[in-house]
Amino acid sequence: MRATRSVREMMDKQMVMEWAKMLMSYKFALDEISTKLTILNEELQFVQHYNPIEHVKTRIKSPESIVEKLQRKGVEVSKENAAAHIRDIAGVRVICSFTTDVYRVYEMILRQGDVKVIEVKDYIKDPKPNGYQSLHMIIEIPVFLSDRIEHVKVEIQLRTIAMDFWASLEHKIYYQFHDDMPDSIRDQLKETADMIGALDKRMLGLKEEVQRFSEDALH
Ligand code: GTP
Ligand code: MG
Repeated sequence: MRATRSVREMMDKQMVMEWAKMLMSYKFALDEISTKLTILNEELQFVQHYNPIEHVKTRIKSPESIVEKLQRKGVEVSKENAAAHIRDIAGVRVICSFTTDVYRVYEMILRQGDVKVIEVKDYIKDPKPNGYQSLHMIIEIPVFLSDRIEHVKVEIQLRTIAMDFWASLEHKIYYQFHDDMPDSIRDQLKETADMIGALDKRMLGLKEEVQRFSEDALH
C-alpha cells in the first residue's frame, strides 16, 4: 500500500518535471519573440525616430488551463497532446497606436527568416460577429537547447490600444455571462466595437495630417 503510493507520488513528480521542462521551451520561445520585437522597435526608433510598438505582453498558459483545454477538446491529457493540439500555450500580445503600425509589425514578423507562419487570422479586416478586432498569427520558432532544437508554437495577437481596451472589457463581460449575454449588452459591445474602428481611422487620419504639416514645413 505504502509502496504503491510512493510510486504514484514518484510518477506525479516525474510528470510535473516533464511538464515544467515543456513549459520552459515555451518560455524560451517567448523570450526570443520578445527580443525580436524589441530589436525592431529600437532600430526604428534609432533610424526613423518612430516606434510602432506601444507595449508587449507575454503569457504562458497555466498547466490547469492546458489540462482544461485538452479535456474540452476531448483528447487525452499528455504533454505530447498539449504540444499537438494547443497552439496558444505561449502567447504574445503586441499593442500599437495605429492600425498601420499593426500591419507594419506583422510584415516585419513575416520577414524573420527563422519564423515559420502557421496561420494568420485577420479580424481587423473581417471583425468577429461580436465586433472583436485583432490580427492573429500562429507561428513556430526554433529554440536551441543544449541537446536538441525544438520548434515551438507561439500565438501572436497584434492590435491597437483602442482594440485592446475593447477586448479587455469584452473579456470580463464574457467571463461573467458566457453564452447567456443579455441582448442589450451584446448590442452595446458591437456598437462600441464599431466606434473603436471609426476612432482608429480618425486617429490615423489625424496623425497623417500632422505628418503632412511637418513635411510641408521642411520644403
Ligand atoms: P482558441 O479560442 O484559443 O481555442 O482558438 P481559436 O482557434 O478559436 O482562435 P482565435 O484566433 O479565434 O482566438 C484566439 C484568442 O484570441 C483567444 O484565446 C482570445 O485570447 C482572443 N479572442 C478571440 N476572440 C475573442 C473575442 O471575441 N473577445 C476577446 N476579448 N478575445 C478574443
Ligand atoms: Mg476561440
